[in-house]
Amino acid sequence: MIIAANLKTNLTRKETSTYIEELESYIKAKNIFQEVLVFPATSSLNEHNGKVIIGAQNAYATKNGAFTGEIGLDHLDEFGIKTILIGHSERRHTLGETQEELVSKFNYYKELGFKIVYCVGEPLEKREAGKEVMMDYISTQYEGIDTEYKNLIIAYEPVWAIGTGLTPTLEDIEAIHTDLKGKSTAPLLYGGSVKVTNAKEVLELNNVDGVLVGSAALYAEHFCSMIQYAQEV
Ligand code: 13P
Repeated sequence: MIIAANLKTNLTRKETSTYIEELESYIKAKNIFQEVLVFPATSSLNEHNGKVIIGAQNAYATKNGAFTGEIGLDHLDEFGIKTILIGHSERRHTLGETQEELVSKFNYYKELGFKIVYCVGEPLEKREAGKEVMMDYISTQYEGIDTEYKNLIIAYEPVWAIGTGLTPTLEDIEAIHTDLKGKSTAPLLYGGSVKVTNAKEVLELNNVDGVLVGSAALYAEHFCSMIQYAQEV
């Protein structure tokens, strides 16, 4: 199982460091052998030695250069970071990243052998338009992406479920994951309002290989409970 925390625009560098240490202590104490990933805010990235894999929430497809406000490979290399989140709904829908831009980012970090967590998911209007429209929409998010890439992890995160407390039914999650597994055999995570109260049942579903957690992961204690559930599944 893969248990991932997307910390988004939360936790300072100091807070992130305390957070990661709490996770490390838990992992050690409980002999956790699941893959635990944490994506801190860019300015909270730091060197880390331990079981937790640290990834970037975003980086530009460049080593360095004139891209104001962005970071590049050099900044990730400084901390030995080899994992990146690409295509998160907030980058697609709030920050306007296009599929073309995501593909170029994907290819750049793929060439470098990065572990890539690539996010897909539909907004509410696509879901309400029926299964065919919804799946067609999600299919467009696979365009240009090497679905056979060996270090690929896909995260299915319905846009309307992110940060809202709403989730698809368990049957829906399982059905969509089963369909998406037909597009890529990469591990497939579910994300969107995963909490301590529902993580276990989500992790138990067929074709769910882990979870990508936002707000509920901000408390190390809650995230550790989810890591424990993954261990038990
Ligand atoms: P929430 O868990 O807050 O809904 O966020 C999910 C998410 O966007 C993880 O990437």
